[in-house]
Amino acid sequence: MKVLVATQKPFAKEAVDKIREIVEQAGYEFSLLEKYEDKAALIDAVKDANALIVRSDKVTREVLDAAPELKIVVRAGAGYDNIDLEAASEKGVVVMNTPGQNSNAVAELALGLMVYAARGFFNGKPGTELKGKTLGIHAYGHVGRLVAKIAKDGFGMIVSAYDPFIPAEKIEADGVKVYDNVEELYANNRYVSLHIPANEHTIKSINYDLLSKMPKGATLVNTARKEVINEDDLLKVMRERDDFKYVSDIAPDNGELLLEKYNERCYFTPKKMGAQTAEANINAGIAAANQIVNFFKNGDTTFQVNK
Ligand code: 3PG
Repeated sequence: MKVLVATQKPFAKEAVDKIREIVEQAGYEFSLLEKYEDKAALIDAVKDANALIVRSDKVTREVLDAAPELKIVVRAGAGYDNIDLEAASEKGVVVMNTPGQNSNAVAELALGLMVYAARGFFNGKPGTELKGKTLGIHAYGHVGRLVAKIAKDGFGMIVSAYDPFIPAEKIEADGVKVYDNVEELYANNRYVSLHIPANEHTIKSINYDLLSKMPKGATLVNTARKEVINEDDLLKVMRERDDFKYVSDIAPDNGELLLEKYNERCYFTPKKMGAQTAEANINAGIAAANQIVNFFKNGDTTFQVNK
């Protein structure tokens, strides 16, 4: 049984060591492909793999076709928009994620981006504080919930959320106000933090209609996916409103243009950094390795996302 870890953006060394340990203790072979330059390297590496651990690496139909022995792919992380679920299901390959394992790292970065924006990207001029400001959490999953907690308990922000998939009582139990209408979330919050996945329902869904509703001094924080933003609409809002800021862990496709025109109001991390901490790597890596062992030894499919 061969378990391949294929990560263009490598895990911290401690995470790789722990994954290797779990895999070898189970009696399986461990194989590592890091920092590969092109998909040909991945295609070559998967040819005899029975299990695959990836991060944002693209597991396309072509990759799956090249892996006849593959039984399971675990995305060590939350979002699985990088994996062709349809192709995997057709081939009988189980796909899992490791929900919650890297959430704290992403949540901390979301708050870091908020502070950075509030302080004018450290330009030396007086900025503003987060205390007492309104923050809307768009999607209250693992990351959204942690952002709400840190913002409320740590920074003294006034936090509300919109998530049609989570019962209002559950969110309210955290002391967070619930909006059952997404427009109201945007209209009532100076900060909005995005935590929606990228899928057919959400791609380009953050549009002019929503963004233009945000109050004066608005900041949109995106540690989710660049694909959920309607970039033309974002550009329009940035052009029309000199009070609007956009901070993101993922540069948009029109990022250069935005930075060229509005560099005092937008910031993008040079590389996607949200889950890039030793702790998140270790948590997600260990979970991925354990899920694979549990799948092969006990048939456990708890975290399967292509059921
Ligand atoms: C996730 O979906 O878990 C995050 O976006 C992290 O992605 P990464 O593993 O590529 O850093």
